[in-house]
Amino acid sequence: MKEKLLKKFSEIFGGSDGAKVYFAPGRVNLIGEHTDYNGGHVFPCALTIGTYGAARKRDDKVLRFYSMNFEELGVLESSVEGLKPEREADWTNYPKGVMWAFQEKGYDVDCGMDLLLFGNIPNGSGLSSSASVEVLTGHILRDFYGFDVSNQDLALIGQYSENKFNGVNCGIMDQFAIAMGRKDHAIFLDTADLSYQYAPLKLENAKIVIGCTNKKRGLGDSKYNERRSECESALASLQNVVDIKSLGELTEEQFAQYQSAIPDEVKVRRARHAVSENQRTIQAVEALKRDDVTLFGELMNASHVSLSKDYEVTGIELDTMVEAAWRQEGVIGARMTGAGFGGCTVSIVEEDKVDRFIEEVGREYEEKIGYAASFYVVEIGDGPVTL
Ligand code: GLA
Repeated sequence: MKEKLLKKFSEIFGGSDGAKVYFAPGRVNLIGEHTDYNGGHVFPCALTIGTYGAARKRDDKVLRFYSMNFEELGVLESSVEGLKPEREADWTNYPKGVMWAFQEKGYDVDCGMDLLLFGNIPNGSGLSSSASVEVLTGHILRDFYGFDVSNQDLALIGQYSENKFNGVNCGIMDQFAIAMGRKDHAIFLDTADLSYQYAPLKLENAKIVIGCTNKKRGLGDSKYNERRSECESALASLQNVVDIKSLGELTEEQFAQYQSAIPDEVKVRRARHAVSENQRTIQAVEALKRDDVTLFGELMNASHVSLSKDYEVTGIELDTMVEAAWRQEGVIGARMTGAGFGGCTVSIVEEDKVDRFIEEVGREYEEKIGYAASFYVVEIGDGPVTL
């Protein structure tokens, strides 16, 4: 991979002297969806697929970006001075956003760079290709300038850039899972205070299978920000009757007791999801610690139902794929993963049933939806590295 990137870098930017190659993973969330901006828990892991970057610092202010995933866009140029989001800058708004975020936080990012990317995460799939590019860029800047920033800082700077530069009010989960990834471990993160534990993912003879609906979506034009404000409004209503800072502080029993303070039925359901999903995530991690993979799977299934019925972020593609998955032999659990509205599902499937699973779910999906899904059997990997 390193040689492939340097060769292309040399072709595009004229020589590869002084260029280095870096990698940042994608992520999949096993359970704890739409809880990270509600002060709840999440349980994601980094993957061995992600984004590769070949990069070289320049002496002037010029930024030159090229993606092997969007070759038709050619080299996109701008300047490290006066960074602002621009529609025609396309995907380069992600690395530019991170440079801007470093500058905003007082780091002297004042040199241009040539950057070539290649991602083997399906774009727009819900496996966080954008957060992967953000953490990768942060890792490259740290290497270029020798900044004293931890991987957790890279996650926070990445999230800040996504919120303030790219206008998506995302939580911390994606950037944290990517920056803090650890091989064969999922991360049990409490988004209320960023305390976390690594949990070894002992799935016995089972594999993690990602099903990509191939329905494209961008977080910016989805209803993501709308869900977030519905939760904020529900929280404000609850705060009239109970002293809480976030929905993540409530148990399901407490929520049932106070929910009548929320005047709007839709917002009751949104908040109920945030509360119940947080409790499921805590239970799921406890189940895994006891090696109770069956309960873990049941909680994944319940998570999907809640995301479909209460949170309404699934849609026909994700529901079709997950319901087909539930019917297959050897499936421990299956649910949508990520923001929803298209994107991917995650299923835990017994190893010797994986081929049949992919064939059957793929067939049922295409029959009903009219186009094919793609499947990936993934492994859990580490955070960002210099290759
Ligand atoms: C997106 C966001 C995350 C999180 C998930 C939903 O991936 O970037 O912060 O909110 O959706 O769980």
